[in-house]
Amino acid sequence: MASRRFFVGGNWKMNGNKESLLEVMNTLNTASLHEDTEVVCAAPSIYLDFARSGLDPRFGVAAQNCYKVEKGAFTGEISPAMIKDCGADWVVLGHSERRHVFGESDELIGQKVSHALLSDVCVVACVGETLEQREDGSTEEVVYAQTQVIAENVSDWGKVVLAYEPVWAIGTGRTATPEQAQSVHEKLRAWLRAHVSDDAADSVRIIYGGSVTAANCRELASQSDVDGFLVGGASLKPEFIDIINARA
Ligand code: G3P
Repeated sequence: MASRRFFVGGNWKMNGNKESLLEVMNTLNTASLHEDTEVVCAAPSIYLDFARSGLDPRFGVAAQNCYKVEKGAFTGEISPAMIKDCGADWVVLGHSERRHVFGESDELIGQKVSHALLSDVCVVACVGETLEQREDGSTEEVVYAQTQVIAENVSDWGKVVLAYEPVWAIGTGRTATPEQAQSVHEKLRAWLRAHVSDDAADSVRIIYGGSVTAANCRELASQSDVDGFLVGGASLKPEFIDIINARA
């Protein structure tokens, strides 16, 4: 079975300024980190250049979103080409805040995934159900449908990390239990095996996001189908180092 390199993303969201982010980056640059963990920091678009130049080259840099074409009259948007031009190689797409705050559809997210990959930008593709959907028993149906649209637009699974982020766990302090996370991750891996390939199922990292902290990361990381994390609030705190080392 393919081994999956543990992946920890830090999603800074719309937080920080150059002074505070420099402190975050210096903490990362000087930390003792498990060398086999892949770490990618998702900076606000305006700080992509700043993050790339401030972070040690061992860290990847991601944008938190992008548009679906290379250039044009799309005021306020950024393109995968611009992400690359800033020295970044990743983009987070389909984040629940893009879906539920900014109304991005599965179709638009799929188009963005397609263009980013074809532009040689790696994608952290996010799926996740709302509390109402979990409570009415439609978690699998929701994440399968979201994954289906993503999968239809993937030209290279080697450039994709799939992030399961239950909306009800994001920013709430209400983390999914290790069993809840493992249950959805193994179902997503089975979905990849059935609808894509054994190789994709065995090699694609499926990471968990939603109130991950230094206190809960190790038990989550011990689950066989949890291949890492996408961390919001804690990625701006010193405890992010502990989360990166969750598998150490
Ligand atoms: O993208 C990760 C983010 O949605 C999780 O946020 O603050 O719950 O770790 P947080």
